[in-house]
Amino acid sequence: MANNLKRTHCCGELTAADEGIRVNLCGWVAKRRDHGGLIFIDLRDRTGIVQITVDVEVAGECFKVAEDVRNEYVLAITGIVALRTPETINKNIATGAIEIMAETLEVLNASKTPPFYIQDGIDVDENVRLRYRYLDLRRPEMQKNLMLRHKVTKLMRDYFDNRGFIEVETPMLTKSTPEGARDYLVPSRVNPGKFYALPQSPQIFKQLLMVSGLERYFQIVRCFRDEDLRADRQPEFTQLDIEMSFVDAEDVMQMMEGMIGFIFKGALEREVTVPFKRLTWDEAMDRYGSDKPDLRFDMELVDMSEAVQNSDFKVFNSVLEAGGQVKAINVKGYGSIARRELDSLVEFVGIYGAKGLAWIIINEDGTYKSPIAKFFSEEQLQKIAKDASAEPNDLLLFVADKKAVVAQALGALRLEMAKRLELVDENKLSFAWVVDFPMFEYDEEEKRYVAMHHPFTSPREEDLQYLVSEPGKVYAKAYDMVLNGTEIGGGSIRIHRKEVQKEVFSAIGLTDEQAREKFGFLMEAFEFGAPPHGGIAFGLDRLIMIMANRPSIRDVIAFPKTQSASCLMTQAPNEVDDKQLRELHIRSTVIKKEN
Ligand code: AMO
Ligand code: AMP
Repeated sequence: MANNLKRTHCCGELTAADEGIRVNLCGWVAKRRDHGGLIFIDLRDRTGIVQITVDVEVAGECFKVAEDVRNEYVLAITGIVALRTPETINKNIATGAIEIMAETLEVLNASKTPPFYIQDGIDVDENVRLRYRYLDLRRPEMQKNLMLRHKVTKLMRDYFDNRGFIEVETPMLTKSTPEGARDYLVPSRVNPGKFYALPQSPQIFKQLLMVSGLERYFQIVRCFRDEDLRADRQPEFTQLDIEMSFVDAEDVMQMMEGMIGFIFKGALEREVTVPFKRLTWDEAMDRYGSDKPDLRFDMELVDMSEAVQNSDFKVFNSVLEAGGQVKAINVKGYGSIARRELDSLVEFVGIYGAKGLAWIIINEDGTYKSPIAKFFSEEQLQKIAKDASAEPNDLLLFVADKKAVVAQALGALRLEMAKRLELVDENKLSFAWVVDFPMFEYDEEEKRYVAMHHPFTSPREEDLQYLVSEPGKVYAKAYDMVLNGTEIGGGSIRIHRKEVQKEVFSAIGLTDEQAREKFGFLMEAFEFGAPPHGGIAFGLDRLIMIMANRPSIRDVIAFPKTQSASCLMTQAPNEVDDKQLRELHIRSTVIKKEN
């Protein structure tokens, strides 16, 4: 590039105040319009777009270059900043008051016609965007997401650095960690038949750093989990990982509320109100049917068991007799719902295991419209309406089942109805902590208890007595941070005493020998003065997704993978040579396709 074309300014930063100065700009052709002796080029770099006006009278020889330019060509131009006439001002772009009168123009590189327009808001199959991710990332909205991500991680580092936290890198080639997903394995060439696991999180290492006396650790770290993928899950994702010594749950939560306030203020200029609401897990499940409730709207689950007892409705009676629950949500003002939609809701709750969905509409005149009204006395109906705070034109939706099914089905229905009725204020930020999780949940398939968070989580002091006899009764010192119905972080106070750790391992069905084989090094470390400690990890991708107001974490990850964990651009994962496999002492059981 000729030296006189080295850039002096960026496209997006020029304003009317720069009138008259000569600038060198570099960038990509976003658009080109040919008006005979006058060619307009919208030149784009990562700061924005500016209009280059190529007038044959001014540009002379270079005019020919402009005639051959196409979209996404890379240009270097020299020109004078000029004010546009009032009627040609473009209010839609930041530089809309000016144009650059081109004097010279050089094509630094040509471009094939891209497979989609390089602009915001395109409607293109995501697979095409992922196949040409480098072009997708040329679009301003995608660049904005990556810049936001950079800004947020920078703020996080500042916040923790200012508070005495040390960023430490932990190994990627390691041993299986206990977050409950499948591991990604890496074969060891020099240790035939042995495998490393990629970390599902740095959990054990950060606890060992506390035993080392680091006291305050953080890391922005890649984690790997081989699990079913969804819009908010990737096989490799990033955590903001934290661990602290000599703290209780409240200390950790306050430190994290401070961090959240700091990044929202610093990156988005938004105030976050602290402290966040704290809900116990029991309360969250009771009121919202979810351990990550969306608190931007009400529509709480109401227990109807008392109001509906002793009716003639067999379905409810048998559920109650079997120790189940009858609960309802009140969809306010939706008495006009169509019969067809009601039928579709029955199918909807079916996905979550509910065997049916009963409904009552309160008519304008206070009477009831419902296929089950006939099973109830007038008094009973009044009590139902009262318990559900129902008024005329409200729709009550009931599920009767085991506690867990009621929570799942009505919890999902609550979100679905809020979506349909547009009750969710998209501008609202509703943070909450869900605390006191059960320590264990019973895995019906494996016929044993499993740790709900992970087995290093400390039970509450008052529940230690049940650890051996009734693990189902034990609650944990665990906390999740929830934002707008998404779990953005989770952590706990840890066990730091070997005996308690042993009991927890035994409660989840690990024999002493298995525990030693898997986590012996941690148990040993606990014998050398482990301090009380606790921590948390945030899903960075999820947090940025919400901050950027995007529907998927793929939008805030530079090179994400598809639902089937593949990269459409590099074609990873791919097959490898037999030679490579032999070196690794591995043979595939997949039959090779015949030629
Ligand atoms: P946990 O398993 O809850 O805790 O993970 C912490 C946070 O990471 C995010 N997350 C994910 N994000 C994208 N894709 C995924 N596949 C994925 N899986 C999890 C979530 C979640 O809240 N070691 C513990 C933390 C601790 O106890 O300190 C842990 O990993 O936002
Ligand atoms: P049935 O007597 O099975 O025809 O059910 C009568 C009404 O009760 C229908 O609207 C069903 O959808 C509803 N229903 C059936 N089972 C349940 C259940 N477990 N919880 C809530 N409603 C139910």
